[in-house]
Amino acid sequence: METNNNEKIYYPSKQVIDNANIKEYDKLYKNSIAHPEKFWEEQAGYLSWYKKWDKVLDSSNPPFYKWFEGAKTNIILNALDRHQTSANRNKLALMWEGEPGDTRSFSYHALNREVCQFANILKSMGVKKGDVVTIYMPQIPEQIFAMLACAKIGAAHSVVYGGFSHESLADRINDANSRVVITADGGYRRGKVVEMKSVVNKAMELSPTMEICITVKRTGVDVYMENGRDYWYHDLKGLPIASTKCETEQMDSSDMLFLLYTSGSTGKPKALVHTHGGYSVYTSTTHRMVFDIKPEDRYWCAADPGWITGHSYIVYGPLINGATILLYEGAPNHPYPDRWWKMVDRYGINILYTSPTAIRGLMRFGDSWPNRNNLSSLRLLGSVGEPINPEAWRWFYEVIGNGKCPIIDTWWQTETGGFMITPIPVTPLKPGSATKPFFGCVISIVDEKGKEVKTGEEGNLVIKTPWPGMTAGVYRDPQRYIDTYWKKYQKQGWYLTGDAAKRDKDGYFWIIGRTDDVIKVSGYRLGSAEIESVMAKHPAIAESAAIGLPHAIKGNAIHITAVLRNGFKSSKELEHELTAYMIEHLGPIARPEEIIFADMLPKTRSGKIMRRVLKARALGLPEGDLSTMDE
Ligand code: WTA
Repeated sequence: METNNNEKIYYPSKQVIDNANIKEYDKLYKNSIAHPEKFWEEQAGYLSWYKKWDKVLDSSNPPFYKWFEGAKTNIILNALDRHQTSANRNKLALMWEGEPGDTRSFSYHALNREVCQFANILKSMGVKKGDVVTIYMPQIPEQIFAMLACAKIGAAHSVVYGGFSHESLADRINDANSRVVITADGGYRRGKVVEMKSVVNKAMELSPTMEICITVKRTGVDVYMENGRDYWYHDLKGLPIASTKCETEQMDSSDMLFLLYTSGSTGKPKALVHTHGGYSVYTSTTHRMVFDIKPEDRYWCAADPGWITGHSYIVYGPLINGATILLYEGAPNHPYPDRWWKMVDRYGINILYTSPTAIRGLMRFGDSWPNRNNLSSLRLLGSVGEPINPEAWRWFYEVIGNGKCPIIDTWWQTETGGFMITPIPVTPLKPGSATKPFFGCVISIVDEKGKEVKTGEEGNLVIKTPWPGMTAGVYRDPQRYIDTYWKKYQKQGWYLTGDAAKRDKDGYFWIIGRTDDVIKVSGYRLGSAEIESVMAKHPAIAESAAIGLPHAIKGNAIHITAVLRNGFKSSKELEHELTAYMIEHLGPIARPEEIIFADMLPKTRSGKIMRRVLKARALGLPEGDLSTMDE
């Protein structure tokens, strides 16, 4: 085998191989893609169903594939209900630690009681099957209870990441026609209270559909509550309606489980839909096989539940597998840079799944912080969100994993529901490569015409066959789903990922990054158009272009080139004002690294901004084909 720059290959140790449930990749992969429906049917057999499917895959209306057609289920049947009768009832489901150091924990039995109570409260508020409930919360247990409670009664949840502004939140509430929002007064981050209910209050003013807000008391900050609209969660929980028993709603396999808003190339963020049946099978199978989950494992996915990683690999996949999960509220380096390492030590974490940004952020504090803690419980380490640079990979491997834990670099997307390219523990590893496709997934790299590129050449990453975790589409906008993902290779029927990649002679995939105008900032997805449309609302701005440029910790950072309106002059003050404006209107994650002022933007003759030219200039790279550029 060969690496990118003749670097070392990391082969699994004997101990890793001995311990692994799946000892060999190639044969199982070959079988899985030769008979995908058989493979997925077998995996579905690990789950409980109210009624089994008539058909594993209904492909009568591509790209709207339906998995486990005819089946009756609810993800809660598998994530909670079936654990109540088994020996799992008293097993620890959720361990939680707040940033100030307070802790709570829940067995599967206790988790079920909480979820039933929350579900009954939602029902009493008139929430029913098919409704969309918006969740805007800090990382506290109630965030997970709320998600599970919605699923249980057949309502879809739409979790909005806490780093978004009230306007972004209102856009999402309005797009989903959400009547009910669940929030908390605030949460703790870096020793400070981050207010949330006050953000929701402002969002509610911009929203005609919002009627009810349920608020969990977390911090005790002062909040404004309006009679008939606002309810404290602890008050509702004390009422007789909040019983600890609640029937789980039987759903069709392809009924909506949740919406999750994510940024694309153009326009406003879109809501992707995931469903009960296929998503249950996909998240649990990938989690079980890739993380080689054992009954006694303590598993920590240190993502935010408000991101797809949190949905699939904090909440649903692990709970379906009956795992013990950890959730932490705050910053990784608060009060000291070894907060995470202390927690790994204290909770005896076996599997830690995080992002390159977090790894790089902690790496800069040096080895002494991890080294003063006992990290020997760790067995597997995972990474997601962006390509991991080999330097961060090796630090994670050597310093955190003590050279004995395989690094599971998982490539996937909100749209895919779960891992698509990933090693399993026995896969030989090359730092920076997500290695090979997961079982049942047929993935390729092709040129603009759809021809497979040669080994080592860059091309578009495409997925050639359907998989059960795939999104059911864009909420109420089927055409946008087709246009964004399926149009480019319509003839072939392939899914366009939006990523560029190459493959080496061992068949290992190397993800290069987005080919569209999506910017990955600290692993979070933001669209150029989204940023530019906020900028355009500022009175000083005529137009602007946002691009992502490499950043040592964040992976990419936002750089904006702005053209001012007549009568405005560029200045440091204006740059600061625009930065504050972005944070207020889009959210703290959209903080620009730099705003530069220009007289005009490079555009095509048809008026499209050529962001790639700005990017090439900033990086001192060749500007490429400029034949379409306007004089
Ligand atoms: C990027 C996150 C390289 C990629 C689960 C993808 C990655 C986008 C990796 C999806 C990885 C995710 N290596 N790039 N291991 N994982 N990406 O929807 O560009 O927030 O298209 O889902 O993240 O981002 P999303």
